[in-house]
Amino acid sequence: MASCCYQTDYRRLFRRRMAARRARRFRRKGLDGTAQALVDALVARGVDGAAVLEVGGGLGTLEAALLQAGAARATNIEISAGWQEAADSLADEMGLSDRIEYRVGDFVDEADTLPPVDVVVLHRVVCCYPWADRMLEAAASLRPRLIALTFPQDKAWVRAAMRIFNLFLRLQRLEFRVFVHSPQEMLGLLNERGYRVVEDSDHGFWRNAVLESTSEAPGDGRGPR
Ligand SMILES: C[S@@+](CC[C@H](N)C(=O)[O-])C[C@H]1O[C@@H](n2cnc3c(N)ncnc32)[C@H](O)[C@@H]1O
Repeated sequence: MASCCYQTDYRRLFRRRMAARRARRFRRKGLDGTAQALVDALVARGVDGAAVLEVGGGLGTLEAALLQAGAARATNIEISAGWQEAADSLADEMGLSDRIEYRVGDFVDEADTLPPVDVVVLHRVVCCYPWADRMLEAAASLRPRLIALTFPQDKAWVRAAMRIFNLFLRLQRLEFRVFVHSPQEMLGLLNERGYRVVEDSDHGFWRNAVLESTSEAPGDGRGPR
């Protein structure tokens, strides 16, 4: 559970001005290469009619791409409300407003209140949360068919860049920090919960992984298949 100072920091860091800037960039350039690769990997595993949950989805552009590719509906659960205005405008422009729900809250605390889902997306989110294990446990507890993750590579230069960013955050008197969680531990945890890696790709700073449920009846039959 994030402390309340920590939660306030999310709102200070991921605020409306940043969201508006990112939305302008998205309108000009669309998804970046890493996000597009994650979308492509999910579409290749099948998203037709799927219910998507994006954790820390920010503007929600990744879930929007999945809706455009055939998913039925999406929920974006975000600790920061700072993205919501820009996210709503983009969804409106793309004609997707009635299929996207934006919720404000900590996913780890709210997981058991969320609707049934087939696909959980955690794109550049575990690196913004101290307890990757709790976040992934919560994702696996929903029993989706697919879990997609983007996280920083465990490489010396990536760790060095994250340390510099954390120094900048400390100078700003923010409690918020970024993390390079062990990929082995994260994927190992999901493996123990019945998920196997079906896609694993290197994008320089970032690594994408898509995991599929090994269970006969993923989603416990709760979500549309
Ligand atoms: C680096 S941003 C990435 C936003 C978006 N996924 C993207 O790639 O553009 C990380 C986001 O995760 C959100 N976040 C971090 N921990 C979260 C949690 N436990 N529950 C919900 N959102 C969370 C933050 O508020 C932030 O907006």
